[in-house]
Amino acid sequence: MSDKLVSSPRTLSIRTSRLILRKAREDDLEDVHAFLSQEDAVRYWSSSPAYSNLAQSLDWLETMIASPHNGVTDFVIELINTDYGSTSKPRPGPVIGKLGCWDNTDVISFILNKSFWGKGYAADALQAFSWYMFAFTGESQDGRRKTPADKLIADVDPRNKRSRTLLRRCGFVEFARGGRTRKTHLGWCDSIYYELTRERWEFLNGTSSGT
Ligand SMILES: CC(C)(COP(=O)(O)OP(=O)(O)OC[C@H]1O[C@@H](n2cnc3c(N)ncnc32)[C@H](O)[C@@H]1OP(=O)(O)O)[C@@H](O)C(=O)NCCC(=O)NCCS
Repeated sequence: MSDKLVSSPRTLSIRTSRLILRKAREDDLEDVHAFLSQEDAVRYWSSSPAYSNLAQSLDWLETMIASPHNGVTDFVIELINTDYGSTSKPRPGPVIGKLGCWDNTDVISFILNKSFWGKGYAADALQAFSWYMFAFTGESQDGRRKTPADKLIADVDPRNKRSRTLLRRCGFVEFARGGRTRKTHLGWCDSIYYELTRERWEFLNGTSSGT
């Protein structure tokens, strides 16, 4: 997996053969709204229903952009455009989702535009993100430092089968369950907690951190 990755210490973006994980920007608004407005995408991801107007998505995007975690441990997922058309250089592809730790905890959040489900993009992004979180140390342009994580955690609604499959496929293991852990637009919801420790990630990838 890591042979496909390039992580730039200047921008802290993460690249696979199909995707770029990079910091969110204001010109991502339309693409971000595309998934924040999808009922199926936000059902278990958000505490509120799908956004019906662009202003709600703008608020969400501005919060992400203003966060010190943007582009350090929290990223939008850009699809690499391989269609050159009549130009010598392809235009940037669309932003198809987001993935990352949005605060100081080890908890990850991920969502993909439904039009891009079923193509392995989420698995690609999560595997690349895990590599970055466990094995990469660097500094962003403004001096914010990214240090290796000890573990990543996901809090998933038991009904969220796609997320559970994704996490298991990427090496996460269930370690706890909780009832009525949060109240969302669906009412009270339960949680299954998954984790991926650095030790397990190193075992699965046949590597050791810092290499
Ligand atoms: C969770 C989520 C990101 C998973 O997306 P996904 O596309 O199902 O996940 P993957 O990237 O692993 O894709 C797996 C599918 O791609 C297929 N696939 C196609 N090409 C593939 C490839 N090159 N590599 C791997 N899988 C590939 C797999 O066979 C699998 O198919 P299936 O859906 O028929 O089983 C998405 O469902 C989502 O955004 N859900 C809503 C948000 C959410 O609930 N977030 C979690 C909150 S905790």
